[in-house]
Amino acid sequence: MTVAIEMGQTTAGAAAAMDLEELLATRLLVQGNSGSGKSHLLRRLLEQSAPWVQQAIIDPEGDFVTLAERFGHLVIEAEDHTERGLQVAGERARLHRVSTVLNLEGLDAENQMRRAAAFLGGLFDVDRDHWYPMLVVVDEAQLFAPAVAGEVSDEARKLSLGAMTNLMCRGRKRGLAGIIATQRLAKLAKNVAAEASNFLMGRTFLDIDMARAADLLGMERRQAEAFRDLERGQFMALGPALSRRPLRLNIGPTDTSPRNSTPRLMPLPEATLEDARAVILAAPPPDASRPQRRPAPDLLEQLRAAKAAAPVIQPEAVEVPVSAEELAERRERVDRTLRAVLAAPDAGFRAIGVLYQEFVVRCRIEGLGSAVPDLNEFRRMLTHARAGLGTDLTEDDAWQDVALRASILPDDMQGVFMMIARAAKEGWPCPGDAAIARAYGSHSLRRAQRLLGYMEEQGLIVVQLDGGGRRIVTLVELAWATAPGDPHGDDLPAEQVASAASA
Ligand SMILES: Nc1ncnc2c1ncn2[C@@H]1O[C@H](COP(=O)(O)OP(=O)(O)OP(=O)(O)O)[C@@H](O)[C@H]1O
Ligand SMILES: [Mg+2]
Repeated sequence: MTVAIEMGQTTAGAAAAMDLEELLATRLLVQGNSGSGKSHLLRRLLEQSAPWVQQAIIDPEGDFVTLAERFGHLVIEAEDHTERGLQVAGERARLHRVSTVLNLEGLDAENQMRRAAAFLGGLFDVDRDHWYPMLVVVDEAQLFAPAVAGEVSDEARKLSLGAMTNLMCRGRKRGLAGIIATQRLAKLAKNVAAEASNFLMGRTFLDIDMARAADLLGMERRQAEAFRDLERGQFMALGPALSRRPLRLNIGPTDTSPRNSTPRLMPLPEATLEDARAVILAAPPPDASRPQRRPAPDLLEQLRAAKAAAPVIQPEAVEVPVSAEELAERRERVDRTLRAVLAAPDAGFRAIGVLYQEFVVRCRIEGLGSAVPDLNEFRRMLTHARAGLGTDLTEDDAWQDVALRASILPDDMQGVFMMIARAAKEGWPCPGDAAIARAYGSHSLRRAQRLLGYMEEQGLIVVQLDGGGRRIVTLVELAWATAPGDPHGDDLPAEQVASAASA
């Protein structure tokens, strides 16, 4: 059986088809400058072949996630998974023959490369029993197989280039048909480009790209000049799955549209801003989603300053001298009140001001009128409570050091740091993203991951993954390390929960 994928029409008006079986054996390279219509072409190809063959799309911009609604592709948000997690996902996608879109949007170049490599590795590594044919589409392939070293680490480049080379050179036997698109042929690693036998060449302006294209296609450079005159959506086709001689074709329409469509020209608003300067240049709001990228502080200097400034912490701000028992009893009631406030299911996600108000009211009801901790003290208590810390720790010397280190972090991060520090001190497994997010008062797992990254940048911790994808956090200087913990585990380790309950 041959399956013909309708790509569009030739300039003469005939249907232009691509032979799917031939394509599986001989791969495809698409090149054209920005806006020439490569992503549209890939979409057309994916839509037309979706009923016939499993697909995986490496999607650096999140353009293809819209295929999910119409064709049932599983969208994998690369940002939410570890490399190991993605490798396994790649294997499983093959085992279960599920079409997938790997959305790499929002990751930096290094992580896009690493994660794409992990996922491709998973597709590649499955047992021979599962070598069913599959289209593997990589848009912006020059990102994953760059011709020259960029700013990313050597390791990331090796991983990614290795995965792309495997896909294009050794994929066929395993049923993997590489389909790669690039804006700039000159930026794509030569060995990766050279493995495709089918070409769709779109509008190209730069001489160096044209020369590379001509070489690949075995054309005279003069002939390649024609690529300059192609219109958007027009491509020159050549190869065993397409046409035996260069054929100009117009790519047909698609059923779905990219999520990030090209911005259209819009008339400017008619009303003029009263005071554009004041509106545009007003002070930015506090950035809630991303910790501020501050220059790495001189840790020792900050620690010294913090130590000098650290107040002698009184259990409560009380003016009248009271006996030790009375103090202890009062403290116990304050703690109990705090626990009651935090017991509300959504307490972890409410603003500190709101929690404090409720706390004050409850304290009054408890008859603690004059001894209600102020907002700063409340913040400190909250930090400790959310981190699952018992009062016993406050006396521990080494722990004082941790509190001091935490003080270089913004208030709202200190609890998270202490929670992790506690786990490290006790040798408990590293808390998962969900527990970290909760301690931060957030639902966002990504934010939890960014938080760890931020602390690492500040020189407080070192984050590592073990072979099983479990996370280990080591506290810098103290050299306490957590036991490996599953980042996706949805709760604190049992020990820490027990400790928090008794705090
Ligand atoms: N054959 C076509 N028919 C109709 N519209 C098209 C066609 N090809 C491209 N377009 C439209 O042109 C615009 C640019 O196309 P596309 O995004 O595919 O370009 P691209 O080559 O992938 O660019 P980039 O390299 O910047 O990603 C899109 O809005 C797309 O919908
Ligand atoms: Mg594109």
